Amino acid sequence: MATTTTTETAAGFDLSLTAEQELVQRTARDFAREKVLPRAAEIDEQKKIPRELIDEMARLGFMGIDVPEQYGGSGLDSLTYVLVVEEINRACASTGVVLCTHVSLAIEPILRWGSDAQKEKWLPPLARGESIGCFALSEPASGSDAAAMRTSARRDGDAWLLNGTKNFITNGAIADVAIVFAQTDASLKHKGIAAFVVEKGTKGFSVGKLEKKLGIRGSDTAQLVFQECRVPDANLIGSVGEGFKIALSTLDGGRVGIAAQAVGIARACLEDALAYAKEREAFGKKISEFQAIQWKLADMATEIDAARLLTWKAATLKDRREPFILEAAEAKLFASDVAVKAGRECVQIFGGYGYLTDFPAERHYRDAKITEIYEGTSEIMKLVIAEEVLKQ
Ligand code: CAA
Repeated sequence: MATTTTTETAAGFDLSLTAEQELVQRTARDFAREKVLPRAAEIDEQKKIPRELIDEMARLGFMGIDVPEQYGGSGLDSLTYVLVVEEINRACASTGVVLCTHVSLAIEPILRWGSDAQKEKWLPPLARGESIGCFALSEPASGSDAAAMRTSARRDGDAWLLNGTKNFITNGAIADVAIVFAQTDASLKHKGIAAFVVEKGTKGFSVGKLEKKLGIRGSDTAQLVFQECRVPDANLIGSVGEGFKIALSTLDGGRVGIAAQAVGIARACLEDALAYAKEREAFGKKISEFQAIQWKLADMATEIDAARLLTWKAATLKDRREPFILEAAEAKLFASDVAVKAGRECVQIFGGYGYLTDFPAERHYRDAKITEIYEGTSEIMKLVIAEEVLKQ
């Protein structure tokens, strides 16, 4: 069914999984099924992820999955990462997004643009899950138009003073390390933006409002506030002016992760709807025997496989160090749409029960929606895709 592990695309991509990738996928699936799934409803209701689940993901090597072994990580590739992300999100999208944000958005900038000293300082605790990361780009007045940020960074001796507010920050309240983007010279527009690592406890850095959300309620979404927050030069990632490229390039990878999250949520919708349809009877037979239900299941299964192919293709290109901006945006655009549709059909197949919080269908529907919004909306994905297509 939707858990096929070997596939080829027309573009000549042999996406057969290696024995190691299959092993990691199985490990993630077993962990998700045994430890995460039984707590998914409670996580959603209590709006909190038990720390032991994050610790267990760390113990399994998932929190530092793509960090080289020399920095305490698992040293695995992006394709393996998306396999894990799909499995965790099939069980619980709140737990899944903690992992996605930590790996794709917080670790990646340090891994790719950090100096040796910065890698040695921050990667080992992040890879071991002792330290949690977040990515602070969006602001109250700038989301899609990320370059319009108002958070400023002003030179002060051998340090920078940060002032401003970041919005919608996943992991914001639990993070020990934040990747913060700030404008050093507004007249330079995006060429004035710089990226900093700001550690929890730094004077002038505080967590503001915690948002109440439609879905992924177990993961925290916070405002981060910077008031004359002094950040040493040693915490600047890359060079001044390089921040915007670091942000957008990091988001390209993040979008592959969100595509995998959407595939995981959509798979949850299909598997739960399938199980229900095989049990529930109406008009003297199982509802799975009605073509009206079969067509919904057929569409869901087909779209999930297509979304997974796009996701694997983008991850494979990233692993090959080939351009993948287009493929990441296509995967996210398509997979998030598939997840939202699968959520709607899952609720529909469950009927009245689908509308109740006693069953998982409504949670899947609520969780799916965010995949069309965060890390670049579907509208922004279309902009990115059009721009890449027009270059060809
Ligand atoms: N990688 C690297 N560099 C890139 C790039 C990419 N993918 N895309 C563009 N750039 C570079 C361009 O080459 C250009 O560089 P030069 O000036 O040197 O030529 C520079 O960035 C500016 O490019 P644009 O003029 O195209 O930039 P823009 O301001 O028009 O923005 C955009 C383009 C696609 C709309 C971009 O702003 C974007 O992706 N916006 C969405 C932001 C987003 O995804 N936010 C989500 C935040 S994270 C989150 O959701 C919360 C959370 O906690 C996880």
